[in-house]
Amino acid sequence: MPTFLKVQGGVPLNGSIAISGAKNSALPLMVASLLTDQSLTLTNVPDLADIRTITQLLEILGVSAQVDGNTCTLNASNITSTTAPYDLVKTMRASVLVLGPLVARYGKARVSLPGGCALGARAVDVHLEGLRAMGAVCELEEGYIVATALKGLQGASFTMRVVSVGATENLMMAASIAKGQTILRNVAREPEIIDLANCLNAMGGKVCGAGTDTIVIDGVDTLHGANHKVMPDRLETGSYAIAALITGGDLTLTNTSLDYLPMVRETLEKAGAFFEIHHDGFRIYQNGAIQGVDVMTEPYPGFATDLQAPFMALMGVCEGASMITETIFENRFMHVPELARMGANIQVHGASAMIRGVKHLSGAPVMATDIRASIGLVIAALAAKGETTISRLYHLDRGYEQLESKLQNCGAKVERVKVSA
Ligand code: EPZ
Repeated sequence: MPTFLKVQGGVPLNGSIAISGAKNSALPLMVASLLTDQSLTLTNVPDLADIRTITQLLEILGVSAQVDGNTCTLNASNITSTTAPYDLVKTMRASVLVLGPLVARYGKARVSLPGGCALGARAVDVHLEGLRAMGAVCELEEGYIVATALKGLQGASFTMRVVSVGATENLMMAASIAKGQTILRNVAREPEIIDLANCLNAMGGKVCGAGTDTIVIDGVDTLHGANHKVMPDRLETGSYAIAALITGGDLTLTNTSLDYLPMVRETLEKAGAFFEIHHDGFRIYQNGAIQGVDVMTEPYPGFATDLQAPFMALMGVCEGASMITETIFENRFMHVPELARMGANIQVHGASAMIRGVKHLSGAPVMATDIRASIGLVIAALAAKGETTISRLYHLDRGYEQLESKLQNCGAKVERVKVSA
């Protein structure tokens, strides 16, 4: 039976929301369990569809996974397969993260090519170039990447052609048990990279420089088990901050920090947000009418592509106009026609969208297309006049833990409804 999210807009969000652990940190951290035969225990793991997908993939490889609430213990002492099948990889591209750890520890890996996704082509060439620099032979066979390094990986010096979060994580994990030193240049600087480096170091790894554009990894013979707490989800944080702003509400977000969102903070302040910093989070509320602000998405510490759709929803009701330019993914304006159905005035010219603010958005039936486009529509719906129904909720369930209850507790009129076909 199809499920929809029904939102009655126009209610300011007031109250407090506890931010969950970061999906995009938990995914590589869980994969890091492949690097050791001892147990890796992760806490603050969000309960999300993507986390269940990576758990399923790790289990197919032979990893034992015990999940108890938000704690997950993984043990890879008995790997039985080094193949990541198409059926799982096609549902979640982050599955490609098993490539580096498998080839580093077992000398071989067979990982399905992810293919296209809602955001565009999204190549994995940088992952492969890095592994080749470390001595792996990578070939494509029947839709699969087949990587071998029967004598193990060798440390290498490698400069990324494009800044890739996933390639940085893949190569950092592989290099942590390669022979000798690896120097990775032009790497991603996202806080999730630092979280992964901290976990690898807690496992006995020697990773330096995470958070800068050069990471130096001294390979060790073996890594051991560890306990590690997943960092807060900065994208969930940014999404709820924007929801507070667009509804004219007053929200306190806990278990998080604005330090993970420097450019988003600066942009929201220009748009009319006031922040009050607390020891475990912050309060956000509107400081006058929402102003149009121009934004260009960029690798961290720039404005996150993952908050582009939520920010566009906000700009939909700004005073004046805003130009939003997407530089990371070629196909990340799929929410534009849906926002237009809600009355937003948006014109797309290539990689840029010109948004002229309207007085108010109106509720409408709309369709989610990816995780962040979906939350953009939810945010628009929270502010719109009337009722919005959002379909294809599986996208939201990939990235937002307990979305409805978190919003309902702050006064939002949001419910999940099943409709017979
Ligand atoms: C990560 O994806 C995130 N996913 C994405 O979050 C996020 O949008 C993206 O980084 C950018 O910040 C996870 O962390 C699990 P990339 P990733 O490799 O690693 C090109 C969400 O909603 N590229 O940094 O796959 C690529 O096509 C998601 O939570 C190559 O050309 O992204 C893109 O244009 C969706 N060759 C750009 O680099 C490569 O080998 C950045 O991609 C790899 C990437």
